[in-house]
Amino acid sequence: MKHLIVVAHPSERSLTMGLASAYAAELKRLGHKTHTLDLYRMNFNPVLAEAELSPIGPNHPVAADVLNAQKHILEADVVSVIYPLWWLSMPAILKGFVDRVFARGFAYDSDHGLIHPLLSGRKAVLVTVSGAPMPTLIQSGSWNAVQVLQDVHIFRAAGFDLLEHLHFDSVTTPLPESVALQHMTRIRTCAERNFGVA
Ligand SMILES: Cc1cc2nc3c(=O)[nH]c(=O)nc-3n(C[C@H](O)[C@H](O)[C@H](O)COP(=O)(O)O)c2cc1C
Repeated sequence: MKHLIVVAHPSERSLTMGLASAYAAELKRLGHKTHTLDLYRMNFNPVLAEAELSPIGPNHPVAADVLNAQKHILEADVVSVIYPLWWLSMPAILKGFVDRVFARGFAYDSDHGLIHPLLSGRKAVLVTVSGAPMPTLIQSGSWNAVQVLQDVHIFRAAGFDLLEHLHFDSVTTPLPESVALQHMTRIRTCAERNFGVA
């Protein structure tokens, strides 16, 4: 299978970037093809311009960076998105990626306010990281908010078959080596669980 991995973290030494590397390596070991869009190292421009508000057409030629990302999504069987929760949401660079790349006419169409998915047939995996422990996120309603806004409102609404949302909670910096190793094992197991047979 062809996998696109989209990852957003400013520090290459972060758990988030470590998880993305381990996940890609495990997918390759399992016989899959991977391509990674590392939004910070690509210096992805997250700011949606006024011209990008109009439907794709003569007045809205798609920008080269958006076109490139859309090409990778169309070529992929699976899109995996790996990011820390910042204010329970995505880092701004990833939110801007969604704003610009998951454009109307590409990821969805809208008719009288009703959304029609355009990326059906593709699978997705979400991997997130938080400082807060999962019981706190659940008790406060925060985890439900994350799932409604990100799993459902973005990825499922665009038509992705969301196979798994794997979350790493209670992540503090610096992370003890033994905990980091457990996390690497967990992400490799996630790749194997979902894509064990290439
Ligand atoms: C701007 C910012 C906002 C954050 N907001 C949250 C939050 O809302 N909830 C939470 O549990 N952790 C929050 N965190 C903590 C990050 O999720 C934490 O840094 C991350 O889990 C550590 O993983 P990393 O090594 O990949 O950065 C925030 C961190 C930053 C920098």
